[in-house]
Amino acid sequence: MTRHLLTLDSLGRDGIRTNLELAGQLKMRKGQAREAVAGGRLGLIFDKPSTRTRVSFETAAWGLGMLPITLRPDELQLGRGETIADTARVLSRYLTAIAIRTFEQSRVEELAKYATIPIINALTDDHHPCQALADVMTLQEEFGDLAGLRVAFIGDGNNVCHSLIQAAGYLGFTLAISTPHGFEPTAEIVEAARIHAAKNGGAIELGHDVREVVRGADAVYTDVWASMGQEKEREERARVFAGYRVDAELMALASTKAIFLHCLPAHRGDEVTDEVIDGPQSRVWDEAENRWYTEQALLYALITGEEHWEKG
Ligand code: CP
Ligand code: NVA
Repeated sequence: MTRHLLTLDSLGRDGIRTNLELAGQLKMRKGQAREAVAGGRLGLIFDKPSTRTRVSFETAAWGLGMLPITLRPDELQLGRGETIADTARVLSRYLTAIAIRTFEQSRVEELAKYATIPIINALTDDHHPCQALADVMTLQEEFGDLAGLRVAFIGDGNNVCHSLIQAAGYLGFTLAISTPHGFEPTAEIVEAARIHAAKNGGAIELGHDVREVVRGADAVYTDVWASMGQEKEREERARVFAGYRVDAELMALASTKAIFLHCLPAHRGDEVTDEVIDGPQSRVWDEAENRWYTEQALLYALITGEEHWEKG
């Protein structure tokens, strides 16, 4: 069966832990594993803009000895009506894996259904699993064991929030989420993760009081108030989310050792102040760097099926 990363459910607890282990080993030896997937070809389909995901995947592919090929929608026949299924069948004959950033989660699932190579979700409206891998790697670097950790997520119950919810369920930490009314994460994702969390010692808490959620937290995480595709709602969301800004005063309620995380890009002055994102508690640049290691580990494991660095 072809291995994919559609949501973090595709990896589960063991797959996430393997990814973190491989990524950590790679980071320790500060390098690439140039022979690990030598000769492989990674297709990158981007229906939405990207800085980190695109560049980290391109360089991750290079790090493994693969050829990265970035495909814009207007350069593909997909944009002129060729079906996802046919695109999947054809690209599977040329490529070794595909990472795709798009709108509906169903498009990634459709691609995976017809592809005979690994398909990686590089962000959809509903999930951002590659981001969550780098997030938990960053938490692990800071705190060691994730068990018992309390992470506060402030803002929109969006794609990034959903993947963190799944990570909390599988890895057994507490994710305390505070959103405005009507912007809660999807109930099914929360409920499913709570089942895993109950087994693994974690919890998913939902609330609206930002200060309550942040109090004593080991990490404070936020993301943009209006995600890609929601540009028209930006003004209205700025009004609704005004009380959800992570500033120094809010950070002061967290644990004295708390760190600040953000998937980036940040809208400085909206969801986070300069003081926090540029301050000593911020780990956002390490978090962005960790995309590179977790993605190399991901490509390697999905393509080769190996759980240890064999070569390179
Ligand atoms: N965090 C993240 O996915 O950033 P990009 O949109 O720049 O890829
Ligand atoms: N929630 C954001 C994440 C960007 C990496 C978006 O979807 O635009």
